[in-house]
Amino acid sequence: MIIAIDGPAASGKGTLAKRLAAHYGLPHLDTGLLYRAVARHVLDARARLDDAEAAERAAEALTAGDLNDAHLRDEGMGDAASIVSAHPGVRERLLAFQRDFAAQLPGAVLDGRDIGTVVCPLAEVKLFITATAEERARRRHLELVGRGVAADFTAILEDIRRRDERDRSRATAPLKPAADALTLDTTNLDADAAFRAALALVDERRKI
Ligand code: CDP
Repeated sequence: MIIAIDGPAASGKGTLAKRLAAHYGLPHLDTGLLYRAVARHVLDARARLDDAEAAERAAEALTAGDLNDAHLRDEGMGDAASIVSAHPGVRERLLAFQRDFAAQLPGAVLDGRDIGTVVCPLAEVKLFITATAEERARRRHLELVGRGVAADFTAILEDIRRRDERDRSRATAPLKPAADALTLDTTNLDADAAFRAALALVDERRKI
């Protein structure tokens, strides 16, 4: 079974994907890390994030080990990832790795922006996780404060809005629900309630 989970920044799709993967005993790939690692490579090479060729070279050089860098989760890297992810050549170069991961038996859970639409269009279960921008900013702020990182709520909200707009409006693989995705709005759900709701949706889809 392939479970494809998409949604905007900080919608909680990563946490949900991890919990669903553990529940069903499946491996999990956070595809945002791939774009974050490409951005890291571009910055390390002192190139510009909007330089498509530099970003494509970085995507080509990427190894699975690059995904273990703990700093990829740092705040600024989300925006940097969003810039390199708009280059079609970068997306194309990351496709085979993601599809190979999804092809493992007995299945896999992948989360990102285009899993249900582009990477795994035939996934049995597609979830689109949303929440208001304010609620997503509140959660990201709490998470950063919990990690002891200084964080400004207004700056986080702006980053989330800017990133969503860029991800939705890009020409290649924009952020949007697949036609057959089930949408889960987690604005008024805590992590446990969101997990229970997601489990119910997965089980509903598996019966079809
Ligand atoms: O965790 P968060 O939702 O903040 O971000 P992420 O999932 O790590 O993704 C970072 C950025 O990578 C996004 O804003 C997208 O621009 C890009 N991305 C993408 O284009 N396609 C994916 N499948 C995953 C991420």
